[in-house]
Amino acid sequence: MSTPQDIETFEELFRDKLAAVYEMERQLVDELESLSAAATDENLSKGFAIHHKETETQIRHVEAAFEALGAEPERRENPLVDGLLADRAAFDERAATDAVRDDYYLDVATATERIEITSYEGLLRTARTAEVDDDVVAPLEANLGQEEKTLRKLRGLAGHGSVETRLNEILGRQ
Ligand SMILES: [Fe+2]
Repeated sequence: MSTPQDIETFEELFRDKLAAVYEMERQLVDELESLSAAATDENLSKGFAIHHKETETQIRHVEAAFEALGAEPERRENPLVDGLLADRAAFDERAATDAVRDDYYLDVATATERIEITSYEGLLRTARTAEVDDDVVAPLEANLGQEEKTLRKLRGLAGHGSVETRLNEILGRQ
């Protein structure tokens, strides 16, 4: 974990945001595995398992961005993802049935995607300002595209039917 320091230039801001995104993906990859194990609905569990695999790829993409910068991958504290994890842990304490827990996990998935998308959008905006090279930006754009695709599926399904129905749709089943 890197030590906080003053951020003056957009290059430094980009590196700081990249370290925050790397921390986010590294924490989420474990969280998604845990959610997959904890969800009782079989399809929900599979959905998280798929997202877990996608996140493994996204971690490699962020590492590729660091490599293109000629830097070692770096993490910095990310209170946004800490908050997500704390919220899920607090809900687990209170969930009295599997059904309400599974339903809440869908909210966790949606909130996660929104935070990830906001983070990548800000990162890419700063990349443009800092005139970061295309080979650094390309793997990050790929991640944003994947996050947006996942959110579109989740948003389109919100509020319709049971967790099982929604997850069947997410997984492309009828
Ligand atoms: Fe991600």
